[in-house]
Amino acid sequence: MKILVVGGGGREHTIIKKIKENPAVSEIFALPGNGGIAMDATCVPIKATDIDGITKFAVDHKIDFAVVAPDDPLVLGAVDRLHEKGIPCFGPESKAAIIEGSKVFSKNLMQKYNIPTARYAVFDDPQKALLYLETSDYPIVVKADGLALGKGVIIAQDFAAAKEAVHSIMEDKIFGASGANIVIEEFLTGPEVSVLCFTDGETIKPMVSSMDHKRALTGDKGLNTGGMGTIAPNPYYTKEIEKVCMETIFLPTVQAMNKENRTFKGCLYFGLMLTKDGPKVIEYNCRFGDPETQVVLPLLKSDLLTIMQSVENGTLADTPVEFDDKCAACVVEASGGYPKSYQTGYAIQFGDLDPDVLVIHAGTKKQGDKILTAGGRVLSVTATADTLKAAVEKAYRNIEKITFQDEYHRTDIGKRALEV
Ligand code: AMP
Ligand code: GLY
Repeated sequence: MKILVVGGGGREHTIIKKIKENPAVSEIFALPGNGGIAMDATCVPIKATDIDGITKFAVDHKIDFAVVAPDDPLVLGAVDRLHEKGIPCFGPESKAAIIEGSKVFSKNLMQKYNIPTARYAVFDDPQKALLYLETSDYPIVVKADGLALGKGVIIAQDFAAAKEAVHSIMEDKIFGASGANIVIEEFLTGPEVSVLCFTDGETIKPMVSSMDHKRALTGDKGLNTGGMGTIAPNPYYTKEIEKVCMETIFLPTVQAMNKENRTFKGCLYFGLMLTKDGPKVIEYNCRFGDPETQVVLPLLKSDLLTIMQSVENGTLADTPVEFDDKCAACVVEASGGYPKSYQTGYAIQFGDLDPDVLVIHAGTKKQGDKILTAGGRVLSVTATADTLKAAVEKAYRNIEKITFQDEYHRTDIGKRALEV
């Protein structure tokens, strides 16, 4: 089988390594891929947002199955276009990807179907937003409606900060067109959990839970990033909480999307906060999380491609989705300066690594026999072990052997989880 994977980050590298385990796979193309993916697949320089280019490539190369991993091509309708050409895909069509593409849509969906989430209000007019903020409780959360590379959320401690947030999102348009509408919502507190689920629109099967570390610096300091490391499973997410989530959040979301005529097939990501009033949805993503995927898929015992095909065919109920009873930790190495500006093009030295760790590339490129830095989040190491403590130690022991100029990583990935 010829497989196409759209995307070129750590998430896609992990997906490709897992898909390769299926013996029926003869070739994998990554669009555009990266320096590490080039060692596992054929990279083709077509951008993940070039929907025409992706569709043409898939038709010309007689692709048997396509995986569209990032949010923007999903929202832009890559799966719709591939389906029109008769190519089976893993990933939602654009009318379902809106669950991530528009926060106004997802908040209204949750309200309509009674799915627990933070109280909120929607505004398309900055003056009305300011009137509302004058009488609000603080802190409060201001979110741009559309996709904003995971950065469209501002937590405002007081009215002045909220006013500034409204101004920069709606008038200065720091997130572009994403900020034409905003959601202002109640600030929630509690442990955060990421739960990625496979769904074919009828059945929903959760994967092992995980915990992201979104802030750039050790001690949860610095700016929000795409994610600086992850662990799985998340110790806050007990069996009892999982049951509540299935009944009050996961199944109701799948059913709500069906009722709206927007059946979701693919990986539905629930960003949850475990508040004292029960689990609530902080965000939906229409795709695998990055770097959650880097700890979740290495623990998957069942065959990934088979599951993805069952999602497309509507046979997920009959397909096993089983996980190892182990723990995983992923530590990201980033370019100094990320998530703001940073330099790239530095050679990466890989030391003598344990044979059983996974080195996952994100922002790298291959030049001759060298691997160079080419992005903010450069690469990560995932280690698995019987305990979380052993997995974290192994990930750190190995990440410290991988060096490049200006490299930085957090030194406390998994620390909070180990205290539970
Ligand atoms: P998002 O981009 O929606 O994942 O939001 C980024 C981060 O902002 C989340 O991981 C939370 O830590 C935080 N956040 C978002 N919404 C809320 C909320 N209503 N209350 C508290 N924190 C929030
Ligand atoms: N790690 C969070 C996300 O993928 O959105």
